[in-house]
Order: sequence, then C-alpha cells, then structure tokens
Amino acid sequence: MKKMNVLLALGLFAFAPAIFSQKNIDPKDIREKMQWFADAKLGIFIHSGIYAVNGVDESWSFYNKKLSYADYMKQLNGFTLKKYDPAYWAGLIKESGARYAVVTTKHHDGVAMYDTRMNGLSIVKKAPAKQDLIKPLFEELRKQNIKCGAYYSLIDWSDNNYPAFLKDSNRYVVSKDYDRWNRFRNFFQGQIKEINTMFRPDLWWFDGDWEHSAEEWESQKVRSIILSGNPKAIINGRLQGYGDYETPEQNFPVTRPNYHWWELCMTSNDNWGFHNDNNWKTPYEIITIFVDAVANGGNLLLDIGPKEDGTLPEEQVNILKELGAWNNKHGEAIFNTVGGLPQGHFYGPSTLSKDSTTLYMFLHGKMNGPVMIKGLKNKVEEVTVLGNGTKLQPKIVGKISWSPIPGLVYIDVPASVADNYVTVLRIKLDKPLNLYKGSGGLN
Ligand code: GLC
Repeated sequence: MKKMNVLLALGLFAFAPAIFSQKNIDPKDIREKMQWFADAKLGIFIHSGIYAVNGVDESWSFYNKKLSYADYMKQLNGFTLKKYDPAYWAGLIKESGARYAVVTTKHHDGVAMYDTRMNGLSIVKKAPAKQDLIKPLFEELRKQNIKCGAYYSLIDWSDNNYPAFLKDSNRYVVSKDYDRWNRFRNFFQGQIKEINTMFRPDLWWFDGDWEHSAEEWESQKVRSIILSGNPKAIINGRLQGYGDYETPEQNFPVTRPNYHWWELCMTSNDNWGFHNDNNWKTPYEIITIFVDAVANGGNLLLDIGPKEDGTLPEEQVNILKELGAWNNKHGEAIFNTVGGLPQGHFYGPSTLSKDSTTLYMFLHGKMNGPVMIKGLKNKVEEVTVLGNGTKLQPKIVGKISWSPIPGLVYIDVPASVADNYVTVLRIKLDKPLNLYKGSGGLN
C-alpha cells in the first residue's frame, strides 16, 4: 500500500497515451518496447537539408513566401556533402552522452535525403551530393550502440498530389478529389515502406500530422505498416493519436506532464537547420534544460543543423562536447533513472534510482547556502557530491520527537565542490523513498 502511495506521489501512474485505448494494442508490449527510450534521456536531432545552402528556414521559407519555390529549390545545386563524415557525427553524438539520434529523411519540402524510388526528388538524384545521407549514418551510429531514428514529414509541399502548397494556396480539396489524395497516400506510404525496409529505424519521428486527420493519413494503417516490418519500432506522437509518446516542441513544461513518455525537442539556437542565426544557447542553459526535462520524467531531443558540406557549426560541436563532459561526470544521476521529487519537497530538479533508494539533487549555478529537503520520512544514509566524491553531512532541523512529521534536511554544500554548470548530490536513503505530504499539524 505504501509503495502504491509513493508511486502515485511520483506521478508514475500518469495517464496512458492515446494509443492504449486502441483495441488491438497491448499496453504491456508498448511498455517493454519503450524501455530503452525511457532510460535513454538524451537524443540528438539532426536537421540536414538543402535549406542549409542559403541558411533559410527549413521548408517554411518558401511556404511562407520569404523566397520563391524556384529559388528555394535552386539550393539543390549547392548541396554537396563534400566533407560529410558520418563516423565523426556518430562519434560526437556518442561523446555527448546521447543514446539515440533522429535524422531528417525528408522534410516538408519533399527532398529525400536518401535514394527514394517513389519519385526523383532526392539529394542522390538532384544534388551534387549524389549520395544517401541516411545509410552510412545509421551504420556508424549502430557501431556506437546508438539507436537510430528517422524523421519523416507526412506533409510534402513539393508533391503535386499534396493539397497544400503555399500558406494561402491549396492545389485542391481532399473531399472533392479522393483519387488524387489516394495517389498521394500511395506515394507517402510507399516512402514509409522503403525507409522501413532500407534502414529499419528504431524510432519513427513523424511531423506535420496537423494538416490532415487520422482517417486521411490512414494513421492506423501507417502504424501497422511500420510495426509489421519492424515490431519494436517506437513511433512519436505526431500521427494523429497513433504514436507512442508526446513531443512538446520548444515548450518547457512547468508542471510534470501527465504522459507516460515524452520528449522535449529543442533547437541549439533558434532554428532547426543551419541558419544565419547566432542566438546560441549556452552549455549551461542546455544542461539545465536537459536536467529539468529528465527530472520531470522526460527526454531531451537536442537539435543540430549541419552545413551543406556536412560539417557542423563549431558552436554546436562545443555544446555537444560540454554536454558530454558533464554527462560523463554525472551520468549516474541521469541515465536509467526516473523523474524525481514532486514539487514542494526540494526547490530544484531531482531524479531517483528506479528502486527509489537513491535521490539525486541538481544544484544550478553558484552555491550560496545550504540546500533543503522537506517531508522526507526516510533516514539519509550518505550524501556524496557526484563526480567529486566529497561526503557531506546532513543536518536534521525541527524534528519533534513525539510527532510523526519529518524534520527538514539541510545540507551545506561548500563552493569548492561546485561543478561549472550543475552540481549533483547523491542522497542514499535507508529504504525506498517515503514522503510526508500533509499540510503540517498532526495529519
Ligand atoms: C515543426 C516544424 C518543422 C521542424 C519540426 C521539429 O513541426 O514544422 O520545421 O522540423 O517542428 O520538431
């Protein structure tokens, strides 16, 4: 009963994702296949595409009429990948600590980053790159034991059978021309089949589902196309209710989301692809955002945007390296953990070991004064500064001998043990976490 209370308090019994209500899906199967994702915490998103040539908004720039479609497509001529080194990308992703990567196989502009047989619009057929970006990358990632994800835009503003084209013009209305829409469906489902067979993604990252309904996309069929060839594949939530997890985009939850699995996808400056944009997030900002997502039970999918020649902006390389050094020192508190204390017990992010006998507390920036935990019924057995080894002495304050309500735990953290970005305390508890959640007094 007690354990049940703890689980409820931790929000581990959050609402089931929409898919659980589908009749033919066994929730147990989903939980099993989702385990690596739940443990992974960090993924790297790669937006590679012809938009990098002139550094314009990925696909949206022509859709929003910032430049003409013809000018946008001219970028094909400048997409060379001449310095593309997939082993270097994979090595850097490994170094960052990420456990999975998701790469654009086709964005809304319709340009495939692999040799699609469904039409002629790919960097293999139409750009000087003349090569498939995906296969060599997946091979290198798999050598590093990193799971491989395929981003795929359902929207295809280049395909003549796709209704939307520019923001204020549609080619036709689906309900008035089902034959034409069917031709598009055969096309995009054909691409999904070929990607599934050619690359066997561990994860599918759909995008653009908002332009049509589940019936129009045939989301259920799309899901079964993927799973019949690749039963363990994970599918993100942008399939009109037929995905496995939620993807809040560039939005930071304040309260813990009510989802079993979620992933915050976020750019490292303000754009997905390589862009004339210098508003880089600092490593400190990225690490604190990452910690916040993990403490709230989610993952971070951090985006990088390679240049047209396949090299990466040095700021992004630096971000990945700094994140990696921090993960190297503090990985125990991140990977394979679960979300931490509910709000109110500690004014900061925290995580827990799966058996909840170890609590990790994350302290941002410079230390000024002791940290405090409220409502902890457990006995604290040991406090260690992670990656540093220093042991700290907790002080129990305000415990009244006759009252069942726990005292406050104060821990003084000397400035000398501080990490450059985020310091982590490991708190060993005597038993699985047991919290007091009352409002004081004798209740
Ligand atoms: C949005 C945008 C798209 C971007 C994606 C990444 O859906 O349409 O351009 O690739 O987010 O999450």
